Amino acid sequence: MKATAIAGANIALIKYWGRADDRINLPLTNSVSLTLDKLTTRTTVEFDTSLRSDTLAINGAPQSGRSLARVVGVMDRIRDRAKTTAHARIASTNSFAAAAGMASSASAFAALPTAAFAALGVRLSPEELSAFARLGSGSACRSVLGGFVEWVAGTDHATSVAQQIAPASHMDLHDVVLVFSDEEKAVKSAEGHAFAKTSPLNLGRLTAVADMLPRLRAAIAARDLSAMGEIAEQDALLMHSVMMTSSPSLAYWKAETIEGIHAVRRWRAEGLPCYFTIDAGPNLHVLVEGSRAPEVVRRARETFRLPPERIVDAGPGEGARLVPDHLF
Ligand code: PMV
Repeated sequence: MKATAIAGANIALIKYWGRADDRINLPLTNSVSLTLDKLTTRTTVEFDTSLRSDTLAINGAPQSGRSLARVVGVMDRIRDRAKTTAHARIASTNSFAAAAGMASSASAFAALPTAAFAALGVRLSPEELSAFARLGSGSACRSVLGGFVEWVAGTDHATSVAQQIAPASHMDLHDVVLVFSDEEKAVKSAEGHAFAKTSPLNLGRLTAVADMLPRLRAAIAARDLSAMGEIAEQDALLMHSVMMTSSPSLAYWKAETIEGIHAVRRWRAEGLPCYFTIDAGPNLHVLVEGSRAPEVVRRARETFRLPPERIVDAGPGEGARLVPDHLF
């Protein structure tokens, strides 16, 4: 009745922003990401028929209110699927600061159903597991699978699932994360999605994404970093344009974010092939071949005077998986 799973964050090359259905996190468009080998969450779930409700501790701190309610919502769907009424003790630890555009919800909600269904002895395909991860946080469905992953928008719970495009071994693409801020952001992405449709630019972005998706799939198949990077940069800028022009307006960037964009373009002009993307936060993600990642780390340290712990060099990672060492 007890199992532990670990899952990594993912970085989207084509983003998920905006929903067709808020209740089950149906997105307005497909999105594509790389699952990472760093920025992980480990989660232990133990079902116990003597418990009267689920309990949750994150990094050792007991949770209540909204963070507990969000997990209980997913646990209720898991119980329905597994035909049980038992409640669970849940503990989870992150290897990084949450809620600063570092996708803690993605790794957390990918690990949760993986551990919970295993604890119940119910075996699901990775695709079906990804649908349960999606209920907790949309982008989490992509972290259930490893390597390059596409989340197919779908039309209902069963069809909105993540699928692997290529395994982690396909290409040594790194995401060097420059953590300019680890403060909690004012509007979490979970809430921000609701505003996307209020931006006059949203439809333009969706049209552009429909054109970029097949080009990105081809670029991944060809291991073509410059084609992938150009698409990733353009969609990050499109998404942030939608964010900034929605009602209310969401401005996640800080001065360093803009400086980072200029730095990446300068490094590229100087012969270091690297590209940026930005999630719902101020941090810059620099996409680069693994062999050149140490150069990005060195340049970032010099340019931004970031301490070592604020630069995370993440490579391609495996999907959510069970591990033997439980948290309790
Ligand atoms: O899964 P959510 O609701 O935290 O949304 C994540 C949204 C972005 O990180 C901004 C983009 C993405 O596709 O990961």
